[in-house]
Amino acid sequence: MTPKKIICVVGTRPEAIKMAPIILALKKCKEFNVRVLATAQHRQMLDQVLKVFNIEPDIDFNIMRPNQALTTLTGRLLLELDEVLITEKPDVVLAQGDTTTVMSVALACFYHRIPFGHVEAGLRTWDMDNPFPEELNRVIAGKLSRWHFAPTESSRNNLVKEGVPPDQIWVTGNSVIDALKSVADTRPSIGVKLDDSKRLILVTAHRRENFGEPIREICRAVLALVERNEDVQVLYPVHPNPNVQSVAHELLGGHPRIVLCDPLDYLPFVGAMQRAYLILSDSGGVQEEAPALGKPVLVLRRETERPEAVEDGVVKLVGSDFECIVGEAQLLLDDESAYREMARGVSPYGDGLTADRIVRVLLEYIQQCD
Ligand code: UD1
Ligand code: UDP
Repeated sequence: MTPKKIICVVGTRPEAIKMAPIILALKKCKEFNVRVLATAQHRQMLDQVLKVFNIEPDIDFNIMRPNQALTTLTGRLLLELDEVLITEKPDVVLAQGDTTTVMSVALACFYHRIPFGHVEAGLRTWDMDNPFPEELNRVIAGKLSRWHFAPTESSRNNLVKEGVPPDQIWVTGNSVIDALKSVADTRPSIGVKLDDSKRLILVTAHRRENFGEPIREICRAVLALVERNEDVQVLYPVHPNPNVQSVAHELLGGHPRIVLCDPLDYLPFVGAMQRAYLILSDSGGVQEEAPALGKPVLVLRRETERPEAVEDGVVKLVGSDFECIVGEAQLLLDDESAYREMARGVSPYGDGLTADRIVRVLLEYIQQCD
């Protein structure tokens, strides 16, 4: 049998982390000719992850421009994808998540009548503004997919509600846990000088709906927590988006117990999550990883498309309200039993075998094609 050509697309840091286990598993199968396409919607943050997993892109659009508008990004992606799909003629295309890269890939595949597989399908808040523009991106990808790889039963149910035929949905878990399991046991070092006698609050924030006043409020809350608690230090790897950089450095720069640093490479970041007492984040991936590591997360968002960990009581939504962030964080700093309740290690998003499940589905498909 001639190997079938499968293009795996990655654009941003989390896509690379979540696609890496799948790309590596596909590459082990002689039935597939795996091509890795990096749109490089992120540049440095994508490259560091690909390096960790030893993945070399076969095609690279190098699309990132500083502070690029979403319309420009989408237009440029579609033009590049058009050309690649015509020349490469893949049998299958696979992408993960809800970024502009994923939405554009799904749309380009639809126009070219190429079957598209969506990894991490079916996440919804049912609110187009939260998160923006990700809710629309994943709704579009969901409309156009041949295979929907849903991480949980609840994401599967969202797709069924939208009319996706159940036989096109597979509940696979989330490959973020495959990636995490492949590195967590090494207890990677953080590579940043921290005071071992202090409790660490790890902070990340990058969502577009938090730009402006919400991110300022989040920073003011972080500052208040450090000032009220002598035994607390903060590590905040600042996302390179200029809208985040400027505010974080203006409001938090220079404090002796706040370390602002560039985004950490994936391994040091896993080390930082392991070392953290508490995590404040608006990230999607961190909401999935931290529960598996037994770390409480206060989510700096109004809505989450990941309700499972909230229902399990190990993740709490606090939004960007100063009082709410400070109040909930202070409770976890002061009240040991409230802390222990949230620091139970649970893993509602996967068992580390997601990549194998996805590969099996695709193998079955190509065997039927022959
Ligand atoms: C993007 C995704 C978001 C995802 C996040 C993961 C969209 C619309 N947004 O948000 O869903 O959660 O990635 O981090 O798809 N930049 C760099 N170097 C990098 C990466 C980014 O300098 O390696 C800067 C550039 O100025 C770039 C800007 O950040 O233009 C914004 O990047 P972009 O991908 O548009 O948005 P993110 O906020 O990173
Ligand atoms: N991450 C990282 N370095 C950092 C911050 C996050 O490697 O400094 C990893 C984290 O472990 C998770 C992923 O990046 O797997 C989450 O990416 P991000 O928060 O940028 O995007 P989202 O998940 O919100 O789409």
